Amino acid sequence: MKKETRVTHQPAVDLPDGNRSVVGPVYRSVKFTFPTIQSGMTAEARRDGFDYTRDSNPTTRQLECLSAELQGRDDAICVASGMAAVWLSVVANLSAGDRIIIFVECYRPIRTLVRERLKHFGINYSMLSVHDHASIAKEFVAEDTKLLIFEAPTNPMLQVPDISAIVTLAKQHGVTTVLDNTFGGLHNHGQYEIDYYVHSLTKYASGHGDVMGGAVIANEANIRKLKPWAVNMGSTMDPGAAFLILRGLRTYYLRYRRHSETALVIAEFLQGNAHVKRVFYPGLTNDPGHALAQQQMGECGGVLSFDLDADREQTWAFIDALDLFLTTSSVGSTESLVAPVKLYFARDLSEEEAARAGINDGTVRLSVGLEHPDDLTADLEQAFAKTFE
Ligand SMILES: Cc1ncc(COP(=O)(O)O)c(C=O)c1O
Repeated sequence: MKKETRVTHQPAVDLPDGNRSVVGPVYRSVKFTFPTIQSGMTAEARRDGFDYTRDSNPTTRQLECLSAELQGRDDAICVASGMAAVWLSVVANLSAGDRIIIFVECYRPIRTLVRERLKHFGINYSMLSVHDHASIAKEFVAEDTKLLIFEAPTNPMLQVPDISAIVTLAKQHGVTTVLDNTFGGLHNHGQYEIDYYVHSLTKYASGHGDVMGGAVIANEANIRKLKPWAVNMGSTMDPGAAFLILRGLRTYYLRYRRHSETALVIAEFLQGNAHVKRVFYPGLTNDPGHALAQQQMGECGGVLSFDLDADREQTWAFIDALDLFLTTSSVGSTESLVAPVKLYFARDLSEEEAARAGINDGTVRLSVGLEHPDDLTADLEQAFAKTFE
């Protein structure tokens, strides 16, 4: 073989029987082949084999199997981002003339998807409050209501929906439920009869803020329904991203616990500050969502919000005065982050809607990282001093 050919047909390095790598390899290959056409068409090859990475890839498959197991479901589809997972779960389950229920408390890009994009496909929506069960029940009675998407806890105001009550209502009326469980995490909320869990794996799952990904997790029949949509959409997760997320997941439980413990320290610290009107964190015993969160999920994660007793300028000055908390959106990575809630997460809402979502000019969201809690409280302390004294 000429060397020009050899660089294309490279030597294979197969491991001897019984010799295996401890960490799974990254299968970067887009294409997979069988020795003959017939051998690629057997039932086993079609079930377990690989052909083209947009359809399936062994590294991504490893992540799908792990995600499904952590969430307590049969199967998963991993995609390029959390929003791609949201899109997949929504568009594959709706047709023109259908209605989707969203909440004023939800993550802004989900509202954008529903209010700005889905209208091009003739899909209607109703936007309610996640706590307003009477209105939810009323919407469910309407023939055209087909799907509801909600978060637990919600981003950015950490509201805790009553998952059992919402799922029970949805089941009574044959409405499909999609739970964006990004804040709850892969290990939580599996006990409910949710039809589809979606996650941004960009957050706690990968944990280091260096990779994007999303997952839809469900029982086998629901995943089978979505799979052709995913393959055709082409919002495929890159196997390199899958590898990084698999690596992140090795420390997932340790990180989620530490994020939660430090967030509680910070929430309690903020509650004791004269410039803070209210703290939103279900881990706090006096939070309205505390009892429900304890029942539904236990630890509450690393994100909390609070209202400063301040106007917009002072609130922004406070955020700018922080050193360790970096001003950006996103959550669930090693470093602590801060965001002005109204500007970043509510600029599509009217004043009345923002008020319903509990958001005002002084609302600040923190994503608590893995730094020492003393350094984080010291950073907040100096920012309070710089802004208010
Ligand atoms: C609750 C929630 N859902 C979905 C997403 C979207 O995830 P991604 O940025 O990976 O698309 C985010 C991102 O912050 C989120 O917080």
